[in-house]
Amino acid sequence: MRLDEKRDLLSIDDLEDSFSDIMEWALTFKSDTNSHLDFQPLAGMAIGSIYEKPSTRTRVSFEVGISKLGGQPLTLSKNDIQLGSSESVSDTAAVLSRYLDCITYRCFGHDTVMELAEHATVPVINALSDLHHPCQAAADLMTIISRRKPSQGHIAWVGDGNNVLHDLMLAAAMTGYDLVYATPDGMGPDSLVLERALSLSKKNGSSITGTSDPKIAVKDAGVIYTDVFISMGEEHIEGKSKLFDGFQVNDELAALARPDYIFMHCLPAHRGDEVTDSVIDSENSVVFDQAENRMWAQISILTFLCNHQAWQTYRDLI
Ligand code: CP
Ligand code: NVA
Repeated sequence: MRLDEKRDLLSIDDLEDSFSDIMEWALTFKSDTNSHLDFQPLAGMAIGSIYEKPSTRTRVSFEVGISKLGGQPLTLSKNDIQLGSSESVSDTAAVLSRYLDCITYRCFGHDTVMELAEHATVPVINALSDLHHPCQAAADLMTIISRRKPSQGHIAWVGDGNNVLHDLMLAAAMTGYDLVYATPDGMGPDSLVLERALSLSKKNGSSITGTSDPKIAVKDAGVIYTDVFISMGEEHIEGKSKLFDGFQVNDELAALARPDYIFMHCLPAHRGDEVTDSVIDSENSVVFDQAENRMWAQISILTFLCNHQAWQTYRDLI
């Protein structure tokens, strides 16, 4: 396949045609330490990242990953640039496209990253919006694929029906993993995203089901995944955290999963709220491998989008 037009990554199903290959590429490259120094597909390229919200993992994994690939990372806080009140999203997209070879963008409303992508002539990667977090899902599936087969228990989501769940559902559906999500009544996933995920899971022979009972979701699970109850930008929603009584992932709940279950969290974790120390620090927890995989998954994605020929050449060696 050649990329004749620029491709954006706004939600993980934008990569549907190549997702499994992107995962395999990332896992192979991560372990192929001999190739790391010689592989410079972003040499001569500059990749800019705009942040409207704070970030530790996304920012550092992109900066380091871009540098490893020979590219120049450029991180821009929204407060440092004219985007917003002084300059439109479309003008910002047009201008940045004259300097940069790819733009990553962490924003509030998903419409904003869609607008940036529409007006940019270079690939745009969503680095988290209120609706989607595709780079997280790529790292999540990379972590799951390396440790569990779809037959070794389903993925159980316990928590809010949020951006992380949305792309996890889509990614699980694209790779044939069953997923059961437990969300409080009225806090379920976005209906249109759910519809897309259900259609993908049907195509790939897996299932997605919802419940408001965390115990049902976790029973015999191979993976337990949770995230903060209050996402960035939701701090003003009064009383939201009260809806999550009974949704903490603790030893009692985790005991319902398979004994060899893995615990996952996109991080940052609010220890004592959605998860106890005893679970996140247990032998079942893979949260720091998962965080590391952000970088390897993004290395595969950046190469795929920005230098497809180099991605393909390495792919052919696998
Ligand atoms: N998981 C994640 O996106 O972390 P950051 O907010 O630190 O980037
Ligand atoms: N759902 C969280 C994820 C943080 C990585 C948020 O949007 O704040």
